[in-house]
Amino acid sequence: MKVWAVANQKGGVGKTTTTVNLGGLLANRGQRVLLVDLDPHGSLTSYFGFDPETIAPSVYHLFDVQPKPAETAVRATEIANISVLPASTALATLDRQLGGRVGMGLVVRNALQALSSQFDAALIDCPPMLGVLMVNALAACDELLVPVQTEFLALKGLERMVHTLDMVQRSRKTPLAWRIVPTLFDRRTRASLEALRELRTAYGDRVWGGAIPVDTQFREASRHGLPLTVEQPWARGSQAYRRLLDDLLESGGAAPRSDGDVG
Ligand SMILES: Nc1ncnc2c1ncn2[C@@H]1O[C@H](COP(=O)(O)OP(=O)(O)OP(=O)(O)O)[C@@H](O)[C@H]1O
Ligand SMILES: [Mg+2]
Repeated sequence: MKVWAVANQKGGVGKTTTTVNLGGLLANRGQRVLLVDLDPHGSLTSYFGFDPETIAPSVYHLFDVQPKPAETAVRATEIANISVLPASTALATLDRQLGGRVGMGLVVRNALQALSSQFDAALIDCPPMLGVLMVNALAACDELLVPVQTEFLALKGLERMVHTLDMVQRSRKTPLAWRIVPTLFDRRTRASLEALRELRTAYGDRVWGGAIPVDTQFREASRHGLPLTVEQPWARGSQAYRRLLDDLLESGGAAPRSDGDVG
């Protein structure tokens, strides 16, 4: 099972949209996809019609002292080949509750390992803050995608995430492959064009060669509870995510060389 995490400590940059739509594309291709919601807001969980206020068991219960098997928390969705490991709002209290309990950084990784024969791919949607859930996501994934909104001061918002990554890299045996995905790109605005240029200058090969365009159909699709890539595979936004997925699969998660990194 291939595992991607989608994270950025900045909010509203397209993390959930990226998770849902890459998941939709993989499902279209017949892969058994697990979407993991690690955001206490439960946007991804709500997207597929579950209520993060009430859902149980959820990711939260994987952190119990005597956790239930991960498979009891997995829910099938109405979309063929897509299942969800949902978030509940109780996740917001997790950092405080766990205090210093050791070994809590590998909970999600262990859960995914237990589920690995049932799925071909997993995508982890992260909360926009650093904490035990983000640490779990970074430990569980083969490759990290960092969506960055192409707007004024895009680089500034990215610094915290890159700093977090630096810390994680120091604690890993093999470096984590990661890639910046420019999102909400509007080619008609100077802010978008400049942000893209700045990203490429600062991060070079780390930046995916394409960009996900602004497409109002993403919001429409979310109202229907469907990935746009499933509802309208030929929408502009869907085509951009398809190019992203093809590039990800082609490179097989090989990390761009780490020398020349900016950080
Ligand atoms: N390419 C796009 N074009 C148009 N709208 C988009 C695009 N990507 C995301 N959106 C919209 O922008 C909003 C924020 O996107 P999303 O929820 O994916 O961001 P996020 O990074 O997960 O946010 P949060 O940090 O709050 O979890 C949503 O309403 C979504 O529908
Ligand atoms: Mg989100």
